[in-house]
Amino acid sequence: MLAIIGGTGLTKLPGLSITHRQVIRTPYGEPSGPISFGDLDGHPVAFLARHGHGHTIPPHLVNYRANIWALHAQKVSHVVSVATVGGIHAELSPGRMAVPNQIMDYTHGRETTFADYGEKPVTHLDFTWPYCEEMRQRCITALRQAREGFMDGGVYACVQGPRLETKAEIDRLAKDGADMVGMTGMPEAYLARELGLCYAAVTVAVNWAAGRGDSAAGISPEVIEATLDDVMGRLRTVLKNLACMSYGSDTSSTGGGVCAV
Ligand code: HPA
Repeated sequence: MLAIIGGTGLTKLPGLSITHRQVIRTPYGEPSGPISFGDLDGHPVAFLARHGHGHTIPPHLVNYRANIWALHAQKVSHVVSVATVGGIHAELSPGRMAVPNQIMDYTHGRETTFADYGEKPVTHLDFTWPYCEEMRQRCITALRQAREGFMDGGVYACVQGPRLETKAEIDRLAKDGADMVGMTGMPEAYLARELGLCYAAVTVAVNWAAGRGDSAAGISPEVIEATLDDVMGRLRTVLKNLACMSYGSDTSSTGGGVCAV
């Protein structure tokens, strides 16, 4: 089954008709909220709001382990993370989407593994390509079907937040090779890898990163709000296209609603 982890602006999934909500307790504490199960235009999905229902959990305090563990425990096989970013690459103006293929992690103090506490032998999992290519390709297909212009690939720099960056920090990230900057991609992607979930991200640029484009003098919250409003309908089409595809043993996803061709 497909799960959608919704980020800023996506605490609810428009068009998701919910059949039930499941509160899941995990050995790692509480997830950001109950997982909603239902269908998106007739296609089954699970949905979890990363920042909580009322968008009250900041990026550095999200319990990434509990979230990923809970999805895995509910037999989710594929995960699409929807995450807002600041655009660094010239192609990533506000409103543009991307399917990154690389990550750089600048976060600190987050719980980064399930392999703590000496329960299992220490493992060093391969993370050369941090996203599941199968899921990336599904996202790319869904974006093409929605006739979205988007960036295929790109380096996602994950920063600690919750504050936005200084211009100097963005200049440094650009020199490091970052194309976009966000606050939630890690450790989420690695934890998904540890549990064998096929995980990729669709990122949405909601502002130029600090010091770039119309953020030269500062990042305007109004720009972010307006971009989010503008992008949500388009994002919903992309997610519906993703939900239309079948996932593992879940054959019901081709029934019900209408899929893009
Ligand atoms: N920086 C970090 N995270 C973000 C940004 C940004 O400019 N915009 C949206 N998420």
